[in-house]
Amino acid sequence: MLEIEKLNAGYGRVQVLWDVDLAVEAKQIVALVGANGAGKTTLLRAISGMIAVRSGGVKFRDRDIAGASIESIVDLGIAHVPEGRRLFSGLTVRENLVLGGWRRNNRDLSRVVALFPVLGQRLNQVASTLSGGEQQMCAIARGLMSEPSLLLIDELSLGLAPIMVDEIVGRLPEIAASGTAVLLVEQDIDTALTVSETAYVLETGRITRSGSSRELLADATIQAAYLGLESQ
Ligand SMILES: Nc1ncnc2c1ncn2[C@@H]1O[C@H](COP(=O)(O)OP(=O)(O)OP(=O)(O)O)[C@@H](O)[C@H]1O
Ligand SMILES: [Mg+2]
Repeated sequence: MLEIEKLNAGYGRVQVLWDVDLAVEAKQIVALVGANGAGKTTLLRAISGMIAVRSGGVKFRDRDIAGASIESIVDLGIAHVPEGRRLFSGLTVRENLVLGGWRRNNRDLSRVVALFPVLGQRLNQVASTLSGGEQQMCAIARGLMSEPSLLLIDELSLGLAPIMVDEIVGRLPEIAASGTAVLLVEQDIDTALTVSETAYVLETGRITRSGSSRELLADATIQAAYLGLESQ
C-alpha cells in the first residue's frame, strides 16, 4: 500500500534521509526504530508531505505522492500523529476530534470512543487538561477521524508510564484489523518490535536492518545496540 523507494530528503542543504526503502501493506503494523536524530520524524514528514522529497519514489495505493500537498495526502488516506501530540490545546476533546475529521466531514465519534472509552467521558474537557496518556489517545483518535488507511504515529510512548503505553499499544492491532495500517515510530524498541509484524532500523538516515519483528527482537546485535542487553 505504501511503497518508498530510494527516498532522499532533508532540510535546506542538510540531507537527512539516504536511499530509504520501506513498505507497509494494508492492515499491517510496521515499526520504524532508531536512535535520536536518526531521521525517523523526517521520514514521517516526507511521507505526509510536510517536507519536500528530493528524489526517490513515495507511492501510496499506486499513486505517486512525492511532492503532493499535505491536504491531498490526507484525502488519499494518510493521517499523521505528530511527535509531542500537538493537540489544539485550548479546544475540547470533541473539537479536536471533529477537526481531525473535517476534510471528510466526519463528525461521527463512535469508532474512536469505542477504541478509547475514556475520551467519551471527556469530550467537553479542554485538551490541555488531559493526562499525557489521554492526550496521546486523543491525538491518535484525531488522526483516525480522517478515516485513514495508513496512520503514522511518531513516538507513541514518549513521556508515558509503561501501563499507559501498554493500554494504547494494545489498541493498535484492532486499529490495523479494522482497515488502518500503522507505521509506528518508537524509542521503546521492545514494545515496537513486539506489536509489529515487520520493522525497519534507521541509522543516521539509512535503513540498516529490516524484516520480521520477531527475528529482529531475537537478534543479539539489535539487543546489544538498542535493548541494553549483552550480546552473547
Ligand atoms: N527543521 C529542521 N531543520 C534542520 N534540521 C533538522 C530539522 N528537523 C530535524 N533536523 C535534523 O535532522 C536530523 C534527523 O532528525 P529527526 O527529527 O528526523 O530524528 P528522529 O529520528 O526523529 O529523532 P528523535 O528520536 O530524537 O525524535 C537531525 O540531525 C536533526 O537535527
Ligand atoms: Mg523524532
